[in-house]
Amino acid sequence: MDQIEPTVFAIFGGAGDLTWRKLVPALYDLSHDRSMPSHASIIVIDRIELSDEALRQRFHDGVNKFSRHGVVNDKNWNQFAMHIYYMQGDFKKLETYTALKAQCEKLEKVWDTKIQLIFYMATPPVMFGEIPKYLNEAKLSQNRERTRIVVEKPIGYSLESARELNKIFTACFHESQIFRIDHYLGKETVQNILAFRFANPLFEPIWNRRYVDFITITVAEDLGIGHRGGYYDKAGALRDMVQNHLMQLLSLVAMEPMVSFAADEIRNKKVDVLHAIRPIPRKAVNQCVVRGQYGKGKINDKPVVGYREEKGVLPDSQTETFVALKLFVDNWRWQDVPFYIRTGKRLARKSSEIVIQFRAVPHQAFPNEATLDWQPARIIMSIQPDEGIILRFQAKHPGPKILLKPVDMSFNYRESFSGPFPEAYETLLWDLMQNDATQFMRADQVEAAWRILMPVLEVWADNKPTDFPNYTPGSWGPASTEKLLAQQGQRWLLPAELKTKTRKKTK
Ligand code: BG6
Repeated sequence: MDQIEPTVFAIFGGAGDLTWRKLVPALYDLSHDRSMPSHASIIVIDRIELSDEALRQRFHDGVNKFSRHGVVNDKNWNQFAMHIYYMQGDFKKLETYTALKAQCEKLEKVWDTKIQLIFYMATPPVMFGEIPKYLNEAKLSQNRERTRIVVEKPIGYSLESARELNKIFTACFHESQIFRIDHYLGKETVQNILAFRFANPLFEPIWNRRYVDFITITVAEDLGIGHRGGYYDKAGALRDMVQNHLMQLLSLVAMEPMVSFAADEIRNKKVDVLHAIRPIPRKAVNQCVVRGQYGKGKINDKPVVGYREEKGVLPDSQTETFVALKLFVDNWRWQDVPFYIRTGKRLARKSSEIVIQFRAVPHQAFPNEATLDWQPARIIMSIQPDEGIILRFQAKHPGPKILLKPVDMSFNYRESFSGPFPEAYETLLWDLMQNDATQFMRADQVEAAWRILMPVLEVWADNKPTDFPNYTPGSWGPASTEKLLAQQGQRWLLPAELKTKTRKKTK
């Protein structure tokens, strides 16, 4: 793959979970599919004492568990592992960075070519404001074409702290060198939203307030918070999921058509959506937002502890593990069309999907008895785990009488394409090496998303919930979530109701 420049990945926090679970398996998969440059090196930097060999063994286990290619064979592994090195270093000492610089210069000499340098901050967020400063001081940030820095979420805990971080990043790197990662943007089905909307002339003419009644976006997980109690208890669902992943999904669904595929063109269109979201007045927070926290119960018949009993969580924690919001996008296309979004942990099952619900026909000419099973027309975009799109509409049921029944036309990724189906991190790491920032967040995007959520965070900070825990594991969140849609005579569709047809077909 020599269209990609020789690359050094310097991963800060390389001994941590993200590197083990996501980054190294994704790099391995790229290397397996010959999508890595022939000159590539992964330098892992962390504080603990570790030999190259011990690190490689740890990554070997991670790749066996998480790689798309399954258990690795020795030949492939050895070929990949010989490019991994460990460097022990304190992130707050300049000498760590000068040692890294020396190592990169050495590689440049050995490879006898210019290299591109990717600094990946896979560290706890407290380091995000430190590492760029040291990289700058060590003169590792200056080359705009060949040097990039990657920042994981959360970028700040509020609008103010995000601004502070962005200030630090842009003081040390040019904005075009800063790649703020949101792994949802690397998911095939998320990228397909643009293709579905803008590569087909069929859907765009009805993609507006004239035809669309409302839109729901659900990102549900059956898992709890795992080992991340320490982080999650300070973040909560609004910061962990809505500020980034759900806002990205909403932007892609609501944005105007782009003029070209240039990174900034697409990002501008997405930021326009965020700027058009109607600010939530503080006094309306309780009507437009529902928060929840799971108690103890069962998932798939297995007992699970309540959130407050999870490791790293305060016993009287008031952190939300579920949130649902009603938003409006105040522009020509979407005026007064509600966007309902929800996300939560320990819900009935993992399911992310977007439902575009269309208005009823302006005049119902069919007799009442014919429409007893009538359902609104819908486009259901299933992000995961079933990846595909369903168009639901009415059809005449066979028989002498006129009877209308909802039917589905469905597209299923796995049936239509033979793969490979790269994981989100694989796609994003590939984009990074290509210097393509389209699927990464810009500073203004991150700040615009925070701006929308600040009234909610402020009102919540002043009004502690009195009913937590308020939903049981395996449910679809607090009962009060229904009130958001009920205000408009609607209800959330359960993913099961959306999926029956495709399931039957794919069996
Ligand atoms: C992460 C969140 O960004 O996304 C996690 O921090 C969440 O809390 C995860 O579990 C969900 O990602 P996915 O790809 O499994 O939907």
